[in-house]
Amino acid sequence: MKPVIALTKGRLEKQFLDYYQSLGYDIAPLTDKGRKLRVDTDDFQFIFAKGPDVATYVQYGIADLGIVGGDILAEFQPDVFDLFPLPFGACRMAVATEAGKVWSNGKKRIASKYTGVTKAFYKEKGESVDIIKLEGSVELAPILGLADAIVDIVETGNTLKENGLVVEEEFMQFSARLIANRSALKIKREALKSVIAKLNPNGGNTH
Ligand code: PRP
Ligand code: MG
Repeated sequence: MKPVIALTKGRLEKQFLDYYQSLGYDIAPLTDKGRKLRVDTDDFQFIFAKGPDVATYVQYGIADLGIVGGDILAEFQPDVFDLFPLPFGACRMAVATEAGKVWSNGKKRIASKYTGVTKAFYKEKGESVDIIKLEGSVELAPILGLADAIVDIVETGNTLKENGLVVEEEFMQFSARLIANRSALKIKREALKSVIAKLNPNGGNTH
């Protein structure tokens, strides 16, 4: 049985494919997959899922390995083995507001996809806020008056800029990570050892 790798769809997928190709793998089966969500290559079976679901598939052992953003691990804290950072997907977690925002004295309303991270951040500050959960396009919330600020990841900063928002505070840094199912690491150790070494940006050629 080939190892199963769960890959986060979208931006990380593209960056992973460049990295994977740079390691000498043929990416054609993965780029020519159309709408298929499960693709076999000579070496692996890949499944394509949203970030939080990648962590879930790995936690439950459906996938042996996963490529997922560190932001997802921080938010959902899945029970997986976090192997190492990968050299792509760098981003920061930040509080952002409208440029020139004047804060009122009342309790702040913060919109985010990352409600766990947001709650922990303000708890650490000792500040009580109302948190509004959104599923995406959170930059709309301050513009439309749903919230005073957002907590979200910033990669290039383009989305903030194009929506008239600015970073008020950055408080975490992430990259993509290689994660593994805990029991697969033991049971399939021999099969996974070489692929993990190959995917390791610092350990590809060591034994
Ligand atoms: C992510 C994130 C920011 C943006 C950051 O959104 O939530 O909005 O990317 O990237 P940038 O700094 O390079 O502009 P995504 O495009 O994944 O969509 P979503 O928030 O609607 O899920
Ligand atoms: Mg977004």
